[in-house]
Amino acid sequence: MTSRRSTTTGYIGKASLPDVPIVINGGIASLAEAKRHLGFVDGVMLGRAAYQEPWRLLTADPELFGEAAPHATMRGVFEAMMPYIERELAQGIRLHSIMRHFVGAFHGVPGARAFRRHLAENGVKPGAGVNVLRDAIALVDDRAVAPMAA
Ligand SMILES: Cc1cc2nc3c(=O)[nH]c(=O)nc-3n(C[C@H](O)[C@H](O)[C@H](O)COP(=O)(O)O)c2cc1C
Repeated sequence: MTSRRSTTTGYIGKASLPDVPIVINGGIASLAEAKRHLGFVDGVMLGRAAYQEPWRLLTADPELFGEAAPHATMRGVFEAMMPYIERELAQGIRLHSIMRHFVGAFHGVPGARAFRRHLAENGVKPGAGVNVLRDAIALVDDRAVAPMAA
């Protein structure tokens, strides 16, 4: 809903129906953009940006809600996900099936390509476990794994 016409429609909708929650969706690429929309509507959805570049959400809580970020880095996000990943692996889900949704996790960070390549080559092997993910993360430059500007 980010063509000029539909965005305007959303803004007008909010202005004329202030009690109706209006949530805008489509083509919003960053938290900075989301923040601008939140000046006019009640909610913003991020689809492709969240899926393709999940690091963009690292600072959503501090930037949009004034709350502490649950995880400062994608490395921290993966650490928090380890128990989930281990449970899924134990049920026979392949590591690749989980990790293929995170190819953009370290977008723009030195080592991101090595991270992707390591997962692509090793995550598909039978029995690939969380050690493959840990080894892939170790290929990412530590110093650069900080929240990136939205
Ligand atoms: C990975 C992914 C999964 C999605 N799954 C659904 C879904 O299950 N149901 C749905 O109505 N829309 C789904 N969408 C569409 C989004 O909700 C959104 O409408 C669409 O991506 C446009 O927003 P965007 O420009 O921010 O991507 C999905 C989008 C993505 C990227």
